[in-house]
Amino acid sequence: MGTDTDLKVLIDRLEQTRTLSREEWSILIRGRTPELAEYLFQKARVIRIRHYGRDIFIRGLIEFTNYCRNDCYYCGIRRSNGCAARYRLTEKDILACCESGYRLGFRTFVLQGGEDGWYTDDRMTDIISSIHSAWPDCAITLSIGERSFESYRRFALAGADRYLLRHETFDEAHYRKLHPPRMSAAHRKQCLWDLKRLGYQVGTGFMVGSPYQTPENLADDMLFLKELNPQMVGIGPFIPHHGTPFAGKPAGTLELTLFLLGLIRLMLPRVLLPSTTALGTIAPDGREQGILAGANVVMPNLSPPQVREKYLLYDNKICTGDEAAESLKSLNARMKSIGYRLTIARGDSLNI
Ligand code: 5AD
Repeated sequence: MGTDTDLKVLIDRLEQTRTLSREEWSILIRGRTPELAEYLFQKARVIRIRHYGRDIFIRGLIEFTNYCRNDCYYCGIRRSNGCAARYRLTEKDILACCESGYRLGFRTFVLQGGEDGWYTDDRMTDIISSIHSAWPDCAITLSIGERSFESYRRFALAGADRYLLRHETFDEAHYRKLHPPRMSAAHRKQCLWDLKRLGYQVGTGFMVGSPYQTPENLADDMLFLKELNPQMVGIGPFIPHHGTPFAGKPAGTLELTLFLLGLIRLMLPRVLLPSTTALGTIAPDGREQGILAGANVVMPNLSPPQVREKYLLYDNKICTGDEAAESLKSLNARMKSIGYRLTIARGDSLNI
């Protein structure tokens, strides 16, 4: 095994059976070449066009708090980063974001934040039900980390439809290299299963090229995605942040991120696959390349402009260019230039 022809056979088999063994995943990831990647992307585009056409779904991302009780070694808003200027949006601020987002054409609002205890279950359910009653035709996605089954249940009852919680890495030992001892891969996975059981459309994912990550770790991540069978998968390159323990670690690559996007599209043909902000940060046309590798979602920033530069998970995070919600026109132009178009729709997953 290992020549391009052998690896093409693996890609063909992945396309047909939608699965590979742990060893095959590692061989494919380790042995990838630009030629193989092109072979993969072509298939990934055919599959995404078969299920989702050339439409790109948009999600309005509202980063409503950058306070966080966690201390993840990679993240710029970790609790020990004393240099982060902290902020919280009020319910009124959040509703104003939705209001302008709705007018721009967004039909999904993603409430994303650090794990901030100020937003108790009562406060969160108030916010969720206000959005739900004001814009009943919109989907509400939460991305606020690990909470109890009971909290997740209350949020769903209040009107939350979807939940994003990246598993970050499947492997417990690797997970412990990225997080302090009080966090565990097992608890994170438990949260994902809880969310599924409650009927959420679930999104998970991981960083590509995170410190100490091996092709075997990525193989385990692929197998976990297969087992969880989520409605969405968010992946993006790790990008160092100067105020974290991983400041000096190398960033993940565009090339490996694109390759994994293509593999995920072949493994889970109907999954929603965002071309993430991190991808747009490491290369000026990163998000277009993500679409051409099989992605079908973009998540422009709807947060109030004055807080955007404070939600810095990593260095140089883009926040005022075409990824800003106000710039949908130019984002659409970029998508048109590669043969795709933004669409106004809730964009529910076909992976049910
Ligand atoms: N580089 C890239 N992605 C990051 N995230 C957090 N910090 C970084 C970083 N330095 C990702 C994590 C998290 C999501 C909200 O952002 O995967 O789940």
